[in-house]
Amino acid sequence: MSANPTLVTAQHFAYLAERTRPEDDFLVDLKAAAHEAGIPPIWISPEQASFMQILLKLVRAETVVEVGTLAGYSAITMARALPSDGRVQTIELSDHHADFTEEWVAKSDVAGRVEVLRGKGADVLPTLADEVFDAAFLDADKSNYPTYLEHARRLVRRGGLIMVDNAFAFGQLFDERPTDPEVGAVKAFNDHMAKQTGLHGVIVPVGDGLWVAVRED
Ligand SMILES: C[S@@+](CC[C@H](N)C(=O)[O-])C[C@H]1O[C@@H](n2cnc3c(N)ncnc32)[C@H](O)[C@@H]1O
Repeated sequence: MSANPTLVTAQHFAYLAERTRPEDDFLVDLKAAAHEAGIPPIWISPEQASFMQILLKLVRAETVVEVGTLAGYSAITMARALPSDGRVQTIELSDHHADFTEEWVAKSDVAGRVEVLRGKGADVLPTLADEVFDAAFLDADKSNYPTYLEHARRLVRRGGLIMVDNAFAFGQLFDERPTDPEVGAVKAFNDHMAKQTGLHGVIVPVGDGLWVAVRED
């Protein structure tokens, strides 16, 4: 054991990815179809999906709320970690992304367990009841993350899980001149998240950096 952490390099990422349960043919086909449909390939990685599935199993999650559906990759993988009567409600602004997801969820092994809620996260989240979710996954527009977090803290039960994607700002966290316009919002959110009381969180270096937090209060 050492107090000095091992720096996680691209080689380490590749190493752990090679040793993670691979995605199945259905998800490979979903990604190919999403590409054909002009949907950008910004879904979570298989190793991040596995990690999130393990966390969901550990908190015995039955209900999950997600902001940012895209093609349904993360929603379907999360639904697979829930019991057979579990449910993922996923919020998506783009009708094109929502239509694609509904089509692919319907032919998946978790058909009926993923519901797409159409609209802006900031409009849909207030319509959901307090403490009815065991977990939340935030993965949409970064400038609204503080608002989404506020709702997640209200929607997720005590002891539940809040996960927030892209803490490493698309790999541009330390760039002096980042090209992505959302980098500033990610940095501000990371500082905001670190100051939260009643939420025990840590950034895990999987994918593009994943905030994992437990609601304590
Ligand atoms: C990074 S993708 C989500 C990826 C998905 N979670 C996955 O890993 O498979 C972000 C999604 O958020 C959606 N989005 C952007 N702004 C939004 C908003 N204000 N409310 C809801 N969804 C939004 C985008 O259309 C896009 O589909």
